[in-house]
Amino acid sequence: MPLLDPRPELWKLPRYQPGRAAELDTGPPPALLASNESAWGPSPDAIRAVAEASTLMHRYPDPGGERLTKRLAERHRLDPANILLGDGADQLIRLLALAYLAPGQAAVVPRPSFQAYGLAITVAGGLPVPVALTAEGAADTHRLGQAVSAATRLVFVCTPNNPTGPAVPASSVREMVERLVGRPVLTVVDEAYQEFVDPLDTLTSSLALVRANLPVVVLRTFSKAYGLAGLRIGWAAAPKPVIDTMATVREPFSVNRLALAAAEAALADTAHLEQVVSATRRARRLFMEQAATRGAVCFDSQANFVAMRAGAPGADVAAAFATQGVMVRGTEPFGLARHIRVTMGTDGEMARFWSAWDHIDAALPFPRRAR
Ligand SMILES: Cc1ncc(COP(=O)(O)O)c(C=O)c1O
Repeated sequence: MPLLDPRPELWKLPRYQPGRAAELDTGPPPALLASNESAWGPSPDAIRAVAEASTLMHRYPDPGGERLTKRLAERHRLDPANILLGDGADQLIRLLALAYLAPGQAAVVPRPSFQAYGLAITVAGGLPVPVALTAEGAADTHRLGQAVSAATRLVFVCTPNNPTGPAVPASSVREMVERLVGRPVLTVVDEAYQEFVDPLDTLTSSLALVRANLPVVVLRTFSKAYGLAGLRIGWAAAPKPVIDTMATVREPFSVNRLALAAAEAALADTAHLEQVVSATRRARRLFMEQAATRGAVCFDSQANFVAMRAGAPGADVAAAFATQGVMVRGTEPFGLARHIRVTMGTDGEMARFWSAWDHIDAALPFPRRAR
């Protein structure tokens, strides 16, 4: 029986390719270094809050997530009217594309970068316009700004950039935004990995641009440093009219009761966050030392992952790691050929990674940095 075809722009669109889910693996637990999750887990307070909230799971959640919104506003010196919660930052990316792109309109995106931008833009009927990264692997705000045309409505900046890892200073984002003022363009700054930037100071986040009421949306998530990836919760900060538009497009109860309870508790447990961030930065430093000892070529990352040049397509090298019980990600779906992306984990997980690396290097040699 012939089935109805979807819109033509969706015919050849590949499905999002996630890292493998933890529960699908049988046998000894692999080291899960493929999805930029937190190896250190959530705050124990978040686990307790979820248990308590679960007794009310027969009730709809607070559609606005008012309490959490207020706490986020206090933490980040914003007005609650400038914040919208989402079912992961992923949902907020979708909402922006759906709300701001009419068919045929364009959105400028860094490439290689997070695949969700291109997917959301295409699903909305828009056209992604890719712009190369800087030589260091950061979003190139100068070239992103130059790529804006009369058809452009959105510019995405991913900082730190997934899958390469470098961050751009908020001053560079600001310069780009100020050059675009007066044009019908909204800049979306995806700060999913912001907590890991070292040193972390207000100069690295674009939240100041939202406070200055510039046409900027900043995206944050509880999936990474807060360890709540399985619950799906993120937030957007933007001028009030943008938040109102996104809220209109969003499904009313998209952030569930357990996610709200966990995020509130996780936000309050600053000691846990600090521990995770310092363990991640330490793992990143030790990883770079190990990579340097072996001469492996890596991007200089400010996130909870590092991208490394591989001697074969990333998917093949990731498959070789999987046979060693170590899950990493090939970066081709992000637009980065012959690299793997490795999430920073515990000392034990990183030891497993390097022992697998030494084994794989014998058959599929990793390119070496010229000395
Ligand atoms: C750059 C970037 N933005 C957004 C997300 C999505 O975050 P969430 O889990 O909140 O949907 C990810 C997830 O990997 C990411 O890498």
